[in-house]
Amino acid sequence: MSCRVSSGDRGLDEVLDGGFPRGSLIVLAGNPGTGKTVFSAQFLYRGAVDHNEPGVYVSFAENKETFYGNMMGFGFDFEALEKTGKFRYLDLLTVREAGVSTVLNMIVEAVEAVKAKRLVLDSYSVLAQAFERPFDSRIVAHTLLSKIIRQVGCTSLLISEVPYGSERIGTGMEEFVADGVLLLRASEIDGRLFRDLEIKKMRGTRITESTLAFTIYDGFKAFTMFRDKPLKGGVFQPIPDGTDRFSTGIPDLDSLLGGGYPKGSTVLLEIDLNVSTLQYHLFLASAFNFLAQDRPLFVIPSVGVDLDLILNRARDAGFADEKLERLLRLFEFKGIVLNKHPCLVEMEGRDTEVDIEKYLDTVDEIRTRTGQPVIHVIGVDKMATHYGFEATLRILNLAVSMVRQRRSLAIFILKPGFKNAVPILNSIVDVHLKVVREHGALLVYGLKPRTNLNFVEMDVTKGYPITRLKPIE
Ligand SMILES: Nc1ncnc2c1ncn2[C@@H]1O[C@H](COP(=O)(O)OP(=O)(O)OP(=O)(O)O)[C@@H](O)[C@H]1O
Ligand SMILES: [Mg+2]
Repeated sequence: MSCRVSSGDRGLDEVLDGGFPRGSLIVLAGNPGTGKTVFSAQFLYRGAVDHNEPGVYVSFAENKETFYGNMMGFGFDFEALEKTGKFRYLDLLTVREAGVSTVLNMIVEAVEAVKAKRLVLDSYSVLAQAFERPFDSRIVAHTLLSKIIRQVGCTSLLISEVPYGSERIGTGMEEFVADGVLLLRASEIDGRLFRDLEIKKMRGTRITESTLAFTIYDGFKAFTMFRDKPLKGGVFQPIPDGTDRFSTGIPDLDSLLGGGYPKGSTVLLEIDLNVSTLQYHLFLASAFNFLAQDRPLFVIPSVGVDLDLILNRARDAGFADEKLERLLRLFEFKGIVLNKHPCLVEMEGRDTEVDIEKYLDTVDEIRTRTGQPVIHVIGVDKMATHYGFEATLRILNLAVSMVRQRRSLAIFILKPGFKNAVPILNSIVDVHLKVVREHGALLVYGLKPRTNLNFVEMDVTKGYPITRLKPIE
């Protein structure tokens, strides 16, 4: 038997060195509505289903019907588990008055009846309050904690309710007896719900990340540090457009935006601090989706991005060099260009009129040749450093109307350091997305249209990168 007990979430297990120490007592603390019940239910449900470890849920707060009903919403079928003898729900709503020993006996009986390996007490706060005399409360603490949990050998979660505004985690006792303390929090980023979990304490465990962002969208899921994953050489499969919208190349983003980017629209992709190039490139899947359908792609790269990097990303998505030479044009300013390449177009970087003409000529030539809608990806920072901000803005305004008339698509990339440009650009674009990092996890949200926060993950199961989103709820 492993000395670790899975928490029911892969991300959390990862940072906990495999899970909770077997037989340990964990305090799960948090304000109302932070996900304590969902987390605990998942711990028991996954334990019974995936590890054949029966569990007991002791509640002083909810009756069985309410609990079973709510948890069905997350896909946890406790009724079925109960029928197979792997789960027991102990509703102690009314027996609090019975006294400590009765309550403790009932818990022991339930644990023995299903040979429970996992136990949840929801909540210790209510239990402690029910026995007002501190003497009784201390008995609860010691008998329950040491006797039941340690002797029976259950890995146990003790829920501790933290009132809003309180700085303290629990009654002041259970945290000291406990082997581990987890704190669940709800907060806001830019006015949108954000959730995170802090590992306050975990005996005998090397913690790699102590704070993790999470969602309870379809069960508890924690997000560890975003990592690029190795690819296995798949070919990007195009996602078809709607009548009035271009697919973003990201199925989840299409749903979030009601079908994709409107045809003829301009998108502002605002990049926050600490988001790397490879990370925000996950949002340029629309460019891949155009290439995959034999449509042209025009790029004025951001500072720090060059043709080689773009070619390599495109090759990662399975595009052949022949196709890229036919459809991709990358505009680079004189002095930066070192080697000639069929995809490279050189620009002066001084006289905007001359450069605009060259850009438009290039676009027109390929557009006529292919007869396809085109996509423009423009690094605002690069343009601003060459033309100054005023001139850049004039060009971008032109781009917006051209894209609208021709029903093509443009994506403006705005790096951190251009904060002043945000309100102006926001007012001229149709869609405004922002990519941020928090506790190492990558997040995206819409300012136009307004959306909630979404976690970003890279799915490589098809061999090429597919960007996946998971809403924070
Ligand atoms: N059946 C459900 N379907 C979808 N979302 C739900 C469901 N039940 C709860 N939620 C969401 O999950 C959030 C947290 O739920 P949970 O009950 O786990 O929190 P909690 O910390 O146990 O709260 P409390 O202190 O009130 O017991 C709720 O605020 C709600 O937004
Ligand atoms: Mg609860």
